[in-house]
Amino acid sequence: MDVPIVNTDVVIVGSGLAGCAAAREIKKAGKDVIVLTKLHPLRSHSGAAQGGVNAALSEDDDIELHMFDTVKGSDYLADQDAVELMCSKAPETIRWIEHMGAAFSRRPDGRIAQRPFGGQSRPRACFAKDRTGLTLLQTIFEQADREGVQFWDEWYVADILYEDGKAYGVVAYDLRDMKPTIFNAKAVMFATGGYARAFKINSNAHANTGDGLSIFARHGLPLEDMEFVQFHPSGLAGSGILISEAARGEGGKLYNSEGERFMEKYAPEKMELAPRDVVARAIMNEIREGRGVGPDKMAVYLDLTHLGEEKIMERLPELRDLAITFLGQDMVKEPIMITVTAHYSMGGIPVNIDGRVKKSPKELTEGLYAAGECACVSVHGANRLGANSLLDALFFGRHVGEAIVRDLESGIELRKASSEEAQGMLDEIAFIMNNNGKETTAGLRQELQDSMFENCGVFRTEESLQKQKEILKRLRKRFKNIRIDDKSKTFNTDLQEAIELGHMLDFSAFIVEGAIARKESRGAHYREDYPNRDDKNFLKHTFAYMDEEGNISLEYGDVVIGKFKPQERKY
Ligand code: FUM
Repeated sequence: MDVPIVNTDVVIVGSGLAGCAAAREIKKAGKDVIVLTKLHPLRSHSGAAQGGVNAALSEDDDIELHMFDTVKGSDYLADQDAVELMCSKAPETIRWIEHMGAAFSRRPDGRIAQRPFGGQSRPRACFAKDRTGLTLLQTIFEQADREGVQFWDEWYVADILYEDGKAYGVVAYDLRDMKPTIFNAKAVMFATGGYARAFKINSNAHANTGDGLSIFARHGLPLEDMEFVQFHPSGLAGSGILISEAARGEGGKLYNSEGERFMEKYAPEKMELAPRDVVARAIMNEIREGRGVGPDKMAVYLDLTHLGEEKIMERLPELRDLAITFLGQDMVKEPIMITVTAHYSMGGIPVNIDGRVKKSPKELTEGLYAAGECACVSVHGANRLGANSLLDALFFGRHVGEAIVRDLESGIELRKASSEEAQGMLDEIAFIMNNNGKETTAGLRQELQDSMFENCGVFRTEESLQKQKEILKRLRKRFKNIRIDDKSKTFNTDLQEAIELGHMLDFSAFIVEGAIARKESRGAHYREDYPNRDDKNFLKHTFAYMDEEGNISLEYGDVVIGKFKPQERKY
């Protein structure tokens, strides 16, 4: 098949904050850039972030304290050179986006308001009511569009062009009609977001299926620290839809079925504003010990009634609306039911501080970049602090865009692509369209999500993880026996979901293998059989590789320690 080839300087996959910020910088510097997205940019998951974006702005805060909180929150696994860069550039990043039009909530004196978030020594999260991500996304998308960035909406990227350590484009098809195209570029950047859809209860958009990660892994590239998946303490009971940490930042209190404010037992100093890993474990512990609430006793109460209607409508209007819509509970009048929800991925595609993708702990690829949640730089280590994610996406998106411009200017050669290089994608599509098996995408996905939540969730053991490894093996086999009913070529979501499921099965194996090997508890990775952190053996990053049969092998990389030496974490 003669597949058309589009030439450009840079192709970016994903149009959330990181993708848009990079694209704007690249276009502003006079380079051609195409952004491919399987959605419309304004439906990217960055827009779902509610509570805030961190920067040490206020008179009693400072950058070093922001760095310290981030490193301590990460359970000392974060790379401190990356943390220093991000935190020191945070105030400038806020001013940059504000000057482009982002309307932040203000203090009475006109300065940007900041609210407390978990694990932070000062109120540090700048916010736009409880729609911070949407405000930032609308601003940066508008500005990228204004610069003339080309957005190709509703295109599905299925593969990268990558050989001998060098990337030179991507292979994609148009979701409207399934027509394939090769995008041949000097530089390729992935900003494809997170992958918590692999878990039954999660706060993520349907699109967050981690395709970008497995696309890389299928080329033998490593994924880093995949065992660290963050469970946010407050998702709506049942659905897991995010109820921002801002609710606790504004004074929300957690109660169990016996009316106890149970955080007193788990984090007497920080209470509800301990980091997410600590609060999520506390909630799950209350539930496991029979003090949950709701019809299935799988939730706890979040009480905001003492804030009053005026403050709730000023600070948390979206959250109120969500709880009314999905639970029929009005937080102005009664406590709402919340539970832990898979939310964020600390691990991902390993990159250096300028977003260059690593092919091993010490070697870099050429022409290949990543930023935002799909990347592991690693500023979040084993546990991310709330409101550091929007900062990571916005700052590193821009920073990696600038790094790409520098690299282009020092001369990246364009390796020419040929039509045949789309064959891998065309074969994958043909297999799914024509396979006449018995398994459905929905059925396999449900089993994956249920079992990942059960066996590889907040609490893990050798037994639960080995069980999950076997389940994944069986699901991969059964995937070969898949069948889709829609054989049309117009917006074939059956096909798309089947391809996405293939990716979810692949990257889930990385999460499980990393978790089996990490025989300690650190941040979001909690092993009941190894409840302590073990710096002697595990103060290191996991690098995992997949072979053609889907087997995973591991090696480890050094953590960059700076001025903050690992200490016991108390909250
Ligand atoms: O809770 C929240 O508003 C989420 C923010 C974040 O994940 O950083």
